[in-house]
Amino acid sequence: MVSCEKDVVILAIESSCDETAAAVVQNGREVLSNIISSQIAMHTLYGGVVPELASRKHIEKINQVMAEALAKAHMTLNDVDAIAVTYGPGLVGALLVGVAEAKAVAYAAKKPLIGVHHIEGHISANYIENKELKPPFLCLVVSGGHTHLVQVEDYGVYQIIGRTRDDAAGEAFDKVARAIGLGYPGGPKIEQVSREGNADAIAFPRAKVAEHPYDFSFSGVKSAVLNFINGCKMKNIPVNQADVAASFQKAVTDVLVEHAMMAADEFHTDQLAIAGGVASNGVLRAGMEEACKQKGIAFYHPSPALCTDNAAMIGAAAYYEYLAGRRDGWDLNAVPNLKLGER
Ligand code: KG4
Ligand code: ZN
Repeated sequence: MVSCEKDVVILAIESSCDETAAAVVQNGREVLSNIISSQIAMHTLYGGVVPELASRKHIEKINQVMAEALAKAHMTLNDVDAIAVTYGPGLVGALLVGVAEAKAVAYAAKKPLIGVHHIEGHISANYIENKELKPPFLCLVVSGGHTHLVQVEDYGVYQIIGRTRDDAAGEAFDKVARAIGLGYPGGPKIEQVSREGNADAIAFPRAKVAEHPYDFSFSGVKSAVLNFINGCKMKNIPVNQADVAASFQKAVTDVLVEHAMMAADEFHTDQLAIAGGVASNGVLRAGMEEACKQKGIAFYHPSPALCTDNAAMIGAAAYYEYLAGRRDGWDLNAVPNLKLGER
């Protein structure tokens, strides 16, 4: 990695799912602006993200969001050293809007282009508020589309040591929320309703994947919730929404903490971070914090606004790619199923 005496300013774009976002980030860790135009209200009408509507909304908003990010940072394109963009994984139509925009702007302004992996962005969100955090560390990535236990060996160097075999953790939250009538997005609503419930009321399963101790499976707990609700309906017993939500949340977060701690033991981890939308969950944070404290592990997490999708995290990841000399060409394309560590 080359050392960089001069400040490096990156304009970053994120449009992989339902947030149109742009940010200006200096030296990977200083956020000069972070603008997010959320589409949640629109998708709520349909109970989940509608890909075609997401792409259309990104097209409508992206120029405005980018102009706002530059204005808030008191900068123009001339002040920027590179343009970064999420190019996968995600919804292909949504990704394409960001990638096309980034290419057009980089070409017109004669700036280098850097494609960023969305999950690398989530992991890098931890660098923004935790200036002392440096690899190696263990990271649990829990979002709407991904559940990965990742050993961050160096900047941009990842070893995936565990992954979900079926639903992602956030997906399970969203599906269960829909089943108990809470609507979209499920995670924050389940967390909120759970505060009124008893997490020990219902014993939902904590699934293990045989011979793969760091892998996850959340389809069983989701089915158990659906079966429980159907059973109540058949017996004409009212469903206690808060107890179901709290018990489900505890079942999922217990597994996440337990697997992360097992991996921490094997990898002799002294720093553990969490990332992705589900990392904003208070019960998960409290569980991780307590477990890390018992083992003397430093625990890191981004603040909630940097856990869910944003462009500041893409700017943070892009900085280390920039220092490593990575640049993309005008043939950069959206890759909806891009693997972490793949180029
Ligand atoms: O990282 P993210 O914004 O988008 C993806 O890359 O998928 O994550 C969104 C996911 C959704 O499934 C949402 O329900 C979940 O994160 N989520 C939460 C919470 N806030 C967002 N899950 C549990 N508790 C929360 N407080
Ligand atoms: Zn995400």
